[in-house]
Amino acid sequence: MEVLYRENILDHYRNPRNEGTLEDADISHELDNPLCGDRIRIDIRLKDGVVTEARFSGRGCVISIASASILTEEIVGKSVAELHAYRDEDMFRLLGITPGPVRARCALLPLQVLKEGISRLRDEEQSLRA
Ligand code: FES
Repeated sequence: MEVLYRENILDHYRNPRNEGTLEDADISHELDNPLCGDRIRIDIRLKDGVVTEARFSGRGCVISIASASILTEEIVGKSVAELHAYRDEDMFRLLGITPGPVRARCALLPLQVLKEGISRLRDEEQSLRA
């Protein structure tokens, strides 16, 4: 079974889905992995609080690129509240592996970008209401 997951990860790395950027995205955020300096950006377009488009760009290893590709596929059609509820375990489930501590940083980088981007959006919305 693990072989199938590894093949899926390699497929997403070699043929990344949703690679690119979105102009005037509602959420646009990027972070680097301090262990290696690789950097992932995620752009999201929302309509009525639901993701209609998601793109990623940047540089990374097999796991981080596959993770960004899988995550940007997964989140289309989900609400911001659902995205906020994603946990590390959800990302590992989507990848089909539970990596060791170093690779976990790679696997979780896109999710971290997403969650920080959502938090910033919420902060901006709150400051507009204040
Ligand atoms: Fe840099 Fe994986 S080695 S993100």
